[in-house]
Amino acid sequence: MYSLSLLTLGAFAPLLASAADCTREFLKTSADSLVAAQTAGNPALLKPVAEGLVYHENFAAATFKSGILATPLKIDHSRHSLDTTQCATYTELISAKGSKPYVLGTQMYFKDGAVFKIDTLISTTGDWLFNATGTLNWASKEDWGTIAEGKRDSRAVIQAAADAYCDIFSDKTVKVPWGYPCARLEGGSYTGNGGANDKCDVGIPSGVSLVDRRYVIDETVGAVSVFLSFSGIPDSHEFRVENGKLRFVHTITVMSARGNGKGKGRRMTRRFARLP
Ligand SMILES: *[C@@H]1O[C@H](CO)[C@@H](O)[C@H](O)[C@H]1NC(C)=O
Repeated sequence: MYSLSLLTLGAFAPLLASAADCTREFLKTSADSLVAAQTAGNPALLKPVAEGLVYHENFAAATFKSGILATPLKIDHSRHSLDTTQCATYTELISAKGSKPYVLGTQMYFKDGAVFKIDTLISTTGDWLFNATGTLNWASKEDWGTIAEGKRDSRAVIQAAADAYCDIFSDKTVKVPWGYPCARLEGGSYTGNGGANDKCDVGIPSGVSLVDRRYVIDETVGAVSVFLSFSGIPDSHEFRVENGKLRFVHTITVMSARGNGKGKGRRMTRRFARLP
């Protein structure tokens, strides 16, 4: 009987071992290598990369050689979320002071100690409310720091807050756990001024479905990155959740992505224009 349980345990050992390999240190080193690669414009600095890597820019297949990573960018701000449960990372990158401004969001997914899937959203001049100086200004004032262990929300609570926010675009009966204060950084525009009276419940468009959601969650900082289709437009919504409530919302919306069609971009711009 004992030997049987040992055998059973043995069968699970490889699974346990690979989960244990996905440490915060491993994820941070890998996510840092993304920043180094982007700074140098040298994709080879990003590691470790699995054979057969799936690489997407603005939700379309792309290559390192012809992609954003081959362009050196002066990185003014970067922040990672590290998800040891899924073995994934999300990185927000702001380049405001270089020759061409960019705000990038990247999700990376790892298996067997190497990244096998990368999704990057690239926003620049012409995208919705794009203003990298504004993004940098507000993002660098916010506190996305580590939350004390006893005060952390569970993954489920963090994801539920994000889902509620995303759901209210198509269903106004959804109860969103608004925090007070709370601020939304959308493109380079901010719904608050960094003060105690900042609010996030200040106007959300209707009739838009936010679907195909892919989450990267880091409970240590209460953060969840959601990559999604915003009525067909490649989009990132990222949330900081504190005590189960929304504290910050960051969005990247790629209006200029290939395949969106200019008509759709213009329609969405008009819809957004009604926001405060
Ligand atoms: C961009 O943001 C900066 C900082 O918030 C602001 O000073 C500037 O006026 C903004 N530019 C535009 C075109 O809105």
